[in-house]
Amino acid sequence: MKNIAVFASGRGSNFGAIAGSVRSGKIKARLALLVCDQPAAGVIKMAKRLGVKVALVVRKDFPDRNCFESAIIDHLKRNSIDLVVLAGFMRMLGPKLVRAYKGRIINIHPALLPSFKGSRGIKDALDYGAKLTGVTVHFVDELMDHGPIILQSEVRIKEGDTLEALEARIHKAEHKLYSEAVGLFVAGRLEIRGRKVRISSR
Ligand code: GRF
Repeated sequence: MKNIAVFASGRGSNFGAIAGSVRSGKIKARLALLVCDQPAAGVIKMAKRLGVKVALVVRKDFPDRNCFESAIIDHLKRNSIDLVVLAGFMRMLGPKLVRAYKGRIINIHPALLPSFKGSRGIKDALDYGAKLTGVTVHFVDELMDHGPIILQSEVRIKEGDTLEALEARIHKAEHKLYSEAVGLFVAGRLEIRGRKVRISSR
């Protein structure tokens, strides 16, 4: 069975959704580790409650990004991690980590990439006046919100939508799509071909 590590910095609703899918058997893998860089993040409490091992790795405890990422890689190796799932990890991964786990790191972004990259994807789509936005799960490369796309789902922006209402619908879509994408990865059904991801049938 494959071992998954989720990386998160905040409240961890995607972590919770993935944990739920692992528990229900929708994702046939072990949720072996939470990697968190924020000592006060809500996701740490959630992981402890669910009995998931936590590695708290704080950037300022290391002289540079290379050392910080080496410490993370040590945790991943010690726990025989096969897949890294970024779920609101508010930090760009550097080349060391991306290269060490090439093709085995995925991210979720709250917009339809390549539109509305960056940390305010939901607000930017709303402010822009887009009628349609959504959620993207993609492999991670060294550029921000850039690697090959695995799955996308759309979310309509309604007349008079508030940021809070749109965020709630985006998060709901995220929880569903991320579990689906992680399930495909652990079932060995994803193949990267250049910029494209081929999803094989069962
Ligand atoms: C999500 O919107 C995700 O798309 C983005 O960060 C947010 C994390 O939310 N990368 P949560 O901590 O999983 O609730």
